[in-house]
Amino acid sequence: MTARPLAEALAGQRILVTGSTGFVGEALLERLLHDLPETPVTLVVRARGMISAHDRVRQVLAGPAFERLRTRRGDDLGPLLDSGHIAVLEGDLDNLPELPGDIDIVIHCAGEVSFDPAIDEGFATNVHGTLNLLAAIEASGSRPHYVHVSTAYVAGRQQGHVREGRLDHTVDWRAEAAMAAQLRERAEIDSRSAEQLAVFTAEADADHSTLGALSVSAEAERRRREWVTKTLVDAGRERGRSLGWTDCYTFTKAMAERAVEETAAHLPVTVLRPSIIESALRQPFPGWIEGFKMAEPIILAFGRGDLPDFPGIPDGVIDIIPVDLVVNATLAAAATRPEPGAPAYYTICSGARNPLSFRLLHDLVWGYFVEHPMVQRDRGEVRVPRWQWPGSERVDQLIRLGDRAHRTADRVVTSLPRSARTRDWARSLDRQRGRLDFLRRYFDLYRPYADAELHFSDRSTLALHEALHPDDVEPFGFDATMIDWRYYLVEVHVPAVVAPLTALSALRGPRTEPTRRVAENGSDTVAVFDMDGTLLSSNVVESYLWLRLPELAMTAKAREVGEVARALPRWLVTQRRDRAAFLRMVYRRYEGASIAELERIVDDELAPMMLTRLSSHAVRAIREHRLAGHRLVLVTGAVTPLTRPVAALFDEVVAAELSVDEFGRCTGHLDRPPLVGESRAAWLRHRALEAGWDLAASYAYADSASDLPLLRAVGQPVVIDPDVVLFRVARKERWPMEIWHGTKTQAPTVAAVR
Ligand SMILES: NC(=O)c1ccc[n+]([C@@H]2O[C@H](COP(=O)([O-])OP(=O)(O)OC[C@H]3O[C@@H](n4cnc5c(N)ncnc54)[C@H](OP(=O)(O)O)[C@@H]3O)[C@@H](O)[C@H]2O)c1
Repeated sequence: MTARPLAEALAGQRILVTGSTGFVGEALLERLLHDLPETPVTLVVRARGMISAHDRVRQVLAGPAFERLRTRRGDDLGPLLDSGHIAVLEGDLDNLPELPGDIDIVIHCAGEVSFDPAIDEGFATNVHGTLNLLAAIEASGSRPHYVHVSTAYVAGRQQGHVREGRLDHTVDWRAEAAMAAQLRERAEIDSRSAEQLAVFTAEADADHSTLGALSVSAEAERRRREWVTKTLVDAGRERGRSLGWTDCYTFTKAMAERAVEETAAHLPVTVLRPSIIESALRQPFPGWIEGFKMAEPIILAFGRGDLPDFPGIPDGVIDIIPVDLVVNATLAAAATRPEPGAPAYYTICSGARNPLSFRLLHDLVWGYFVEHPMVQRDRGEVRVPRWQWPGSERVDQLIRLGDRAHRTADRVVTSLPRSARTRDWARSLDRQRGRLDFLRRYFDLYRPYADAELHFSDRSTLALHEALHPDDVEPFGFDATMIDWRYYLVEVHVPAVVAPLTALSALRGPRTEPTRRVAENGSDTVAVFDMDGTLLSSNVVESYLWLRLPELAMTAKAREVGEVARALPRWLVTQRRDRAAFLRMVYRRYEGASIAELERIVDDELAPMMLTRLSSHAVRAIREHRLAGHRLVLVTGAVTPLTRPVAALFDEVVAAELSVDEFGRCTGHLDRPPLVGESRAAWLRHRALEAGWDLAASYAYADSASDLPLLRAVGQPVVIDPDVVLFRVARKERWPMEIWHGTKTQAPTVAAVR
């Protein structure tokens, strides 16, 4: 028991801390530096990218948690590092540096805290990482008091009273760890089986076939990798659940405890089990929190009105503990050495003596948002729902129903012709998709916690608190009865969670749509335009009929229209799968047409009509590029004669070339195939190399998902009247999007552009 004040008991004790760049570790480091100035610390920190461990610690010391310490020490914590009061060792848990031989206490905070990591990664950090640390301690010659930060939820899915002590199970952690490591190799092998690869390719083909074979392969490979990760995440969750834990996180944390008990039996060992750790009640200041933890996403989703109900039992207990109480208990436990081979266990929780029910949590948070509603950019002040607690089965059913309805609506919208209204529907469906995905993810993750009726006992922790020196009770106390839930939630925690978001939206201002800007960056910049649907409101079949019918006799005209009408459904199906094949089918019908006559028809009859279909916005954009000195290129799948009315606007026209026999008649074949999907992008890259074009500075204008490779080939893609698939990509990538057709503006003449 701690008879002496903590500062005295820990003075001169060298403490090694892992995880000091994380939430709990940072709070612990702050208390050590602020309140225990005679206790030197050694931090094991990994480098991140180009930032060394040392610099990461400097960044941590410059953060808000250390404000009061900076104020006290005259705003410079550098000397703490330079003097060696804080020693930094660079290393990852799977590649630790040599540890000093004079460590008195190790506090192991580092861990994989996501609920659903891939099973091998969960084991690698939480189990192997812990074993590596113990091995490094052993090799160093230090014989410290080892303090292991675990979680109260290692209790798993048991119900009722949970005592502090060794977990009661017979699971072989060594076997589980070995299997977890092997599962990745198995998943990688399975993902490459012929059957599985055929599934990825078929799925990729359904969405990407119009773009070309390479896009299909890239998508199939992306799906394969995603499948491997999902398989390993599912394996972690299901293995954990099959053995009685809630998820991979609590499963691996429980395995780590047993690994510690067995491999560190020669050391004094303390296992700390905090429940859900949230923002500080008092230190370093009320509301201090780092990153989003367990309850924050839920609180924010509730404030945004995105959480209509909750799977929990209203009278069930949600066990939350402020981070400073966890830190205080950790310091008291660190100063209290158990005998080697007889680990001490402390559950740091609130539920045992100051329970917070889900209902009270909801009522307090609801009241907060009624008084301080969140403001959404497009929805104004949000009205928060009152939960009805329909039970987890019902919430599950509601999400399923929402999912089904969404899938049906999405199928319909994706197959509708493009229009402003279809894009609006797509936008609102995407918003609903985001909400449904959020609900599904959080429902699945939190359901076992919300349904759990665990009552943690904290008798040992209370005894530890009661053993504090009287002078320490106020600054270092951790009795959860000191928490006034109304004050903590309404005055401290929820405002702390909401504040960064409010600050961020104030910084961002109203949502702005990305806009197109034509920069004057020289003649190696090109602006590539697609024709049908972008420059002109036309399509291939319509253009074919414009061009072909005037050339035919009356009876042949009627026959041609009938045959085209009959072929249309087949063409549409082909177009969805392979646009080049579809174009070839249409162009076969030019067989026998006179090329000279086609060109005459275009010049004399079609040109005026086509020019009325030329978007005035397109003409304006072309003029802007011309004025900026850019090279203008038209790339189209249409046949060359059809480009004659607009060819004068461009420096270069790339179109499908009809093959012509010695009598000047079209053969129905092509001398140059139509450039579509990937072939457009490939042509552009090749031409850019030849001509020295700077594609990163260049522009492309197009309207359909099949143009994605072309749009991705340039640095300045612009999307015009997009179909639903392209609309979604453009929103995600924040590409400028313009409506060129169906809006009336005065068209500048073509002559004015040249
Ligand atoms: N937060 C809670 O509600 C809660 C509740 C109960 C128990 N706990 C336990 O408390 C401990 C700390 O949690 P936290 O909330 O502070 O987590 P956190 O904010 O995610 O921090 C995790 C820390 O672990 C470090 N880390 C992770 N993998 C590492 C590796 N392979 N090598 C070296 N360092 C590694 C991270 O370093 P980087 O910065 O380099 O990533 C970071 O410093 C964990 O053991 C957790 O299980 C947390």
